[in-house]
Amino acid sequence: MTADGKITTRDYSPVDFTSREDKLHLLRQRALADAVLIGHSTLQKDNVRLGLPRGELRDERVARGQTPSPLRVVLSNEGRIDPSLKLFQSEIAPILIFSTTRMPRSSQKALREKATLHLSEGDKVDLVWMLQQLRREYKVRSVACEGGAALFRSMLELDLVDQLNLTIAPYLFGGRDAPTLTGVSKDFLPASVRCTLTDMRVVGDECFLTYRVRHR
Ligand SMILES: NC(=O)c1ccc[n+]([C@@H]2O[C@H](COP(=O)([O-])OP(=O)(O)OC[C@H]3O[C@@H](n4cnc5c(N)ncnc54)[C@H](OP(=O)(O)O)[C@@H]3O)[C@@H](O)[C@H]2O)c1
Repeated sequence: MTADGKITTRDYSPVDFTSREDKLHLLRQRALADAVLIGHSTLQKDNVRLGLPRGELRDERVARGQTPSPLRVVLSNEGRIDPSLKLFQSEIAPILIFSTTRMPRSSQKALREKATLHLSEGDKVDLVWMLQQLRREYKVRSVACEGGAALFRSMLELDLVDQLNLTIAPYLFGGRDAPTLTGVSKDFLPASVRCTLTDMRVVGDECFLTYRVRHR
């Protein structure tokens, strides 16, 4: 995030405001996880593949007994996911989509060719259920959530976050409508979230913070 707490601009345009070191930091965190989780809007806006480069990070995973790359998990309530996104054109690791039966039939048909669909009844995906499915069906023990803000906020509300990796980048965007870490909602979180700072590293003009989130 920027020094004033923004994670993107007000029009949610894909912005690149962090260093190469920060991108490496993201990859290192991704490489530790059994699964990487992303909200539909971030997937759409940033068109990411959620993979890992060949080499050290993949080799270390294999040496730890993990698959070469983490499972890729997409979350969408409505399910109107575009199958032509880059994620679906790459075979780095299996893709799971957690969505609801609201997903249009045509999307279901197109996406089933590229991913495993987990569709639940109701309007919204139950995040606790989703994590249980990941654990039971896919033996996932650690999940790296890469946002965006709406998904992160939902995870915080349900007390599902153990650790926050936060990079403060040397910019200020300003503006009321640009989302912060927890989005644009005017509402308070159900309870303030307390964290313990476990690591702080300064590289160039950026500060890399690691917080342990204290559970309620
Ligand atoms: N600076 C950074 O480090 C960083 C990191 C990540 C993202 N971003 C930026 O953040 C922006 C997107 O963030 P966002 O807050 O708009 O969206 P988001 O959290 O990426 O995605 C929200 C969407 O995820 C789906 N979803 C399913 N269950 C959910 C739940 N329980 N809670 C929340 N969402 C759920 C819904 O998809 P459906 O609409 O399909 O139902 C919802 O609309 C992008 O501009 C991206 O570039 C920045």
